[in-house]
Amino acid sequence: MKFFIDTANLEQIKEAQDLGILDGVTTNPSLMAKEGISGKEAVLNHYKTICEIVDGDISAEVLSTTYEEMIKEGDELAAIHPNIVVKIPMIKDGIKALKYFSMKGIKTNCTLIFSAGQALLAAKAGANYVSPFLGRLDDISVDGMNLIEEIRIIFDNYMFDTEILAASIRSPMHIINCAKIGADAITSPLDSILNLLNHPLTDKGLAQFVADAKKMS
Ligand code: G3P
Repeated sequence: MKFFIDTANLEQIKEAQDLGILDGVTTNPSLMAKEGISGKEAVLNHYKTICEIVDGDISAEVLSTTYEEMIKEGDELAAIHPNIVVKIPMIKDGIKALKYFSMKGIKTNCTLIFSAGQALLAAKAGANYVSPFLGRLDDISVDGMNLIEEIRIIFDNYMFDTEILAASIRSPMHIINCAKIGADAITSPLDSILNLLNHPLTDKGLAQFVADAKKMS
């Protein structure tokens, strides 16, 4: 399973990269705005910096919502670095844009997926990744994990190459359940990834080992 970090914060990206388990980065306009990145040049430079830190797929989202604007913007983003994955919203013009980039050999990530039908359409259009938003479904009392299962079944039925990139992760349990279902990738805030490390019996066991090691020296 691929591990992506879902942030535009360079310190967190570096920390995750230093762990040695990072496969890439996903961003969105909200995450970029949170870091105070604004203006076209600043946005392109920020993506360039991320590409220099992490050697993996870097999802960069278009800000526009019409086909013509999305392909112009996506072409500009893709020109930054070969690892850029153009992130396209799940709308009608987005499907057309996914097809355009697929024909051009530019990688894409279809975002804001909330149903199996949307994932199927994105896969048909040649998306490399679909991003179902687990946490936001859970937030409205709909089981987000069911959606991951449905998409897994559909993609396996037809052997779609499109990868399921589970997004809107809120906890380590989301990551574990995605792994059990067979999501190809997760994108998560750093704290949920780091929380996978924790177990009180590990802490207790290590404290004992450290105490016993002192007796040996
Ligand atoms: O990047 C897309 C997704 O992961 C957003 O998550 O927490 O804003 O629902 P969240």
